[in-house]
Amino acid sequence: MSAPLTRIHHVGVVVRNLEQAYGFWRDCLGLPVHKVATVEDQGVRAALLTVGDSEIELLEPLAPTSGIGKFLAKRGEGLHHLCYATADVAGALAAARAKNVRLIDEQPRPGLAGMICFLHPASAHGVLIEYAQPFPEDAHR
Ligand code: CO
Repeated sequence: MSAPLTRIHHVGVVVRNLEQAYGFWRDCLGLPVHKVATVEDQGVRAALLTVGDSEIELLEPLAPTSGIGKFLAKRGEGLHHLCYATADVAGALAAARAKNVRLIDEQPRPGLAGMICFLHPASAHGVLIEYAQPFPEDAHR
């Protein structure tokens, strides 16, 4: 495979409210919050917490009408997606397309974890899959 997936980059978790979620993820588990950002085009406020070489990505919807807002209303808080790191997100996406995997993104786009894309859960036994090629400034992650 031309674009190997190298590790689990992060696990995405939908929460009602970031500050309330810190009570468990940061304060009980002791995971440090290293980045908080609002991603308007995805309709979320997100926090990244470090756990070894991987991260937990907490996602709080900005509005009930966003994708994450609808997920929260329908499924409640909980696991949302699994993200793999790759050094070549375009290559990894092309490899998935070549294997007839159903895609959500036809092209990589900038996201919180770097250049990212999503594969459809229908092709992944019910799991929403993200690929991320970290930005050079976050290359240590
Ligand atoms: Co993610």
